Amino acid sequence: MTALAGRHVVSISDLANDEIEGVFRLTDRFAKGLQDGPLSLSRKEPRKRTKSPLPRRSPLSGVCVDRILATVFLEPSTRTRLSFESAMQRLGGRVISVPDPGSSSTAKGESLADTIRVIASYADIIVLRHPHDGSALLAAESLDSQRLSELGRRVPIVNGGDGAHEHPTQTLCDLYTLRREHQRIAGLRVALCGDLLHARTVHSLAYGLARFGAQLRCISPPELRLPTYVKRRLELEYQCTPAEYDSFTDLAEPEPAASARDRRGRGRSTRPLDLDRAREGIGRLLDAVYVTRIQKERFAEPSLAEAMRGSYLVDPLLLTRIGKHTTIMHPLPRVDEVDAAVDADTRAAYFRQAAYGVPVRMALIALLLGKRKLGGRQSGQAAEPPTGEGLAAPGVSGVRCQNPACITNHELGARPRLVPVPHHCSILRCAYCEHEQATHD
Ligand code: NCD
Repeated sequence: MTALAGRHVVSISDLANDEIEGVFRLTDRFAKGLQDGPLSLSRKEPRKRTKSPLPRRSPLSGVCVDRILATVFLEPSTRTRLSFESAMQRLGGRVISVPDPGSSSTAKGESLADTIRVIASYADIIVLRHPHDGSALLAAESLDSQRLSELGRRVPIVNGGDGAHEHPTQTLCDLYTLRREHQRIAGLRVALCGDLLHARTVHSLAYGLARFGAQLRCISPPELRLPTYVKRRLELEYQCTPAEYDSFTDLAEPEPAASARDRRGRGRSTRPLDLDRAREGIGRLLDAVYVTRIQKERFAEPSLAEAMRGSYLVDPLLLTRIGKHTTIMHPLPRVDEVDAAVDADTRAAYFRQAAYGVPVRMALIALLLGKRKLGGRQSGQAAEPPTGEGLAAPGVSGVRCQNPACITNHELGARPRLVPVPHHCSILRCAYCEHEQATHD
């Protein structure tokens, strides 16, 4: 058994730094294999005819030949589902899919736990996307409680996005992109920009960046700052307190606290980008700008989402003010945050970022299925997840999670589990969605 074989990836914290490095080393090999092989994404010349009339088989297409991946997507997706499916097919494996909520028995009221248990008997690895926070952990637990007794094998659950909570495999793509563009992650100054409250890609990425020693700058309207639980984890686990700004202009030229208070008193949430004042400033201050769309589907009040639209526009004018090597990233889909005129600029990395999704996910699938081993300093033993409470943290009984989007408030029979926050005994954190609440609430 290799170090990652059979492991769930519910959070980016389920992978240690050297394991992520191992995923990237394998990604490099697979990406090269895709370029060199008959499945090449970037071949410019038509391939020379060989003597054999049969097409040459890629060596990659034998890696997972006897395995089945299930994609269970109970929320819309383009990149995550299709890149996982493409990755598995390029490895020679097969794919079964629940491509939308209407096409499984969850639409008839079946619980997530039952759905996952059944699919685990049809597939060797499951990628789950679900609208509720904490659903991936619940799915993983539902298998752990029965896996050895009934299935007789480990079926990894990979979180393809659980509500507004986490999206760890997007973070692997994001970190890999930064590493390709800048040859390092440590020390990079990365601005996370947009709807930081609801964007699950940002939450996982913030932990990933902090762990690899990057510096975080958070640019968002005050209403859409990182959730408290994310900030607390950044502080407790990585000693990282990200600087927060209302706009690019504030980042380039922080205004005195008093005038910021005045401005908020008048009801404006962001200072418009004054490009002349911000001149040079942003260029010197950032290595990457990671933009996210306003996640309108997660707002309780849709008009608030509408009011936030257009707060952060990355356009050709902004490009003239950022550094020559400042990478523009976006997990996609974009709505109106990045002007299409930016696409042709070499600093626009978002389509490369989406394309890396295939080799990154090929590497992850091969490792989780035990078809490839981690290189480097790995011992070959199954390692414990590096952080977090793991699957069996004890909880305070009789208390419900107050996050309406938490899976424990939707899944029949789910048992809420609230655990005290380390060093803050008056605060409880939900083991599933991680939202915090006071002990006396
Ligand atoms: C993101 C997601 O679904 O969280 N997309 C993705 O997986 N690449 C981002 C988003 O929907 O805004």
